[in-house]
Amino acid sequence: MTDNPKSPTGYRVLKPADLEAAHGLRAFALDVLNGLSETPKRLSSRWIYDEDGSRLFSRICELDEYYPTRSEAEILRNHTEDILNRAGVDALDIVDLGAGDGRKTDIVLEAALGQVKDVRYVPIDISEASMQGLVKRTGAKFPRLKLGGIVGEYFDGLHWLSHGNGRRNLVLFLGSNIGNFNKVQARVFLRQLWEALNDGDQVLIGFDLKKDIELLLAAYNDKQGVTAAFNKNLLKRVNRELGGDFDLGAYRHFATYDVFSGAMESYIVSLKRQTVTIRDLQSTFEFEEWEPLHTEYSYKYLQRDIDDLAAKTGFRIVEQYYDNNGWFTDSLWQVEKPSL
Ligand SMILES: C[S@@+](CC[C@H](N)C(=O)[O-])C[C@H]1O[C@@H](n2cnc3c(N)ncnc32)[C@H](O)[C@@H]1O
Repeated sequence: MTDNPKSPTGYRVLKPADLEAAHGLRAFALDVLNGLSETPKRLSSRWIYDEDGSRLFSRICELDEYYPTRSEAEILRNHTEDILNRAGVDALDIVDLGAGDGRKTDIVLEAALGQVKDVRYVPIDISEASMQGLVKRTGAKFPRLKLGGIVGEYFDGLHWLSHGNGRRNLVLFLGSNIGNFNKVQARVFLRQLWEALNDGDQVLIGFDLKKDIELLLAAYNDKQGVTAAFNKNLLKRVNRELGGDFDLGAYRHFATYDVFSGAMESYIVSLKRQTVTIRDLQSTFEFEEWEPLHTEYSYKYLQRDIDDLAAKTGFRIVEQYYDNNGWFTDSLWQVEKPSL
């Protein structure tokens, strides 16, 4: 990791051992094999973000129904100055976990370049396509910014953080990425983040709040069908990268809300009995008519869930920022570590 990476791409790709897994299968192939062999079938949404998926997600962010991006951008516009004041340092690493296209982060970077003497931006994302777009766009928009991206898993990013150079970190975990974890996974993840960070480091986490169920359903079932195309992009990617023969027209997107777990759940449902062959996995998979394939959870929070999560993971809540509708919150947490 350097301030000014020599690599012409402006980012480095981490290749941990598990990406080069047994039998030469990549992590994606292994996950597809495991997920389609389970009952109920599942494919993780983390694989949606290839070039097409990243482009579709950027379109989702502009949809009328998709309030989270607008709400969080409003929060950042109104409160970034305060957030940076609370960091109160001259040298700051802004680490963006699951940065995506990084458009909302522009608001933070622009303010930081004006407010903080020495700023370094470290976007981390599993999607190389997203990272390419982000590095190109952000580099052109902020030529003075020190930028060094990492293509890898959140945990690779955490590993990098824990070997940091002692600079103060402001970790951004925006866009309700935390919502893809269930409550136990979220606790484990945040505790690992706490361990990777130093006393005084801060984390800004975007939580989507529980709200009118109609708003939730509309946000994940937009009229133009962009979310449907985004979800089904998983099948397209299996076809393209693993030699699958999913017939996209024979499946539908379905998103619903579970009031008990508090999660929006996304599925792809088979419209008929069919067999799918995936060449690179040397496997076939049977789908019954109306059989679901689970793709994503997006957990929604109450304020007391957020308080509880911070308390259980060693963080102190510094401030809670809301949009005007009260639909979304960015929660600023600080790492508290007892001195030895
Ligand atoms: C919902 S988008 C949010 C992007 C951005 N933070 C925002 O607020 O608009 C999620 C991003 O996280 C990345 N991502 C998902 N799972 C990941 C993982 N396990 N490790 C690293 N990045 C991940 C995806 O590639 C995608 O770019």
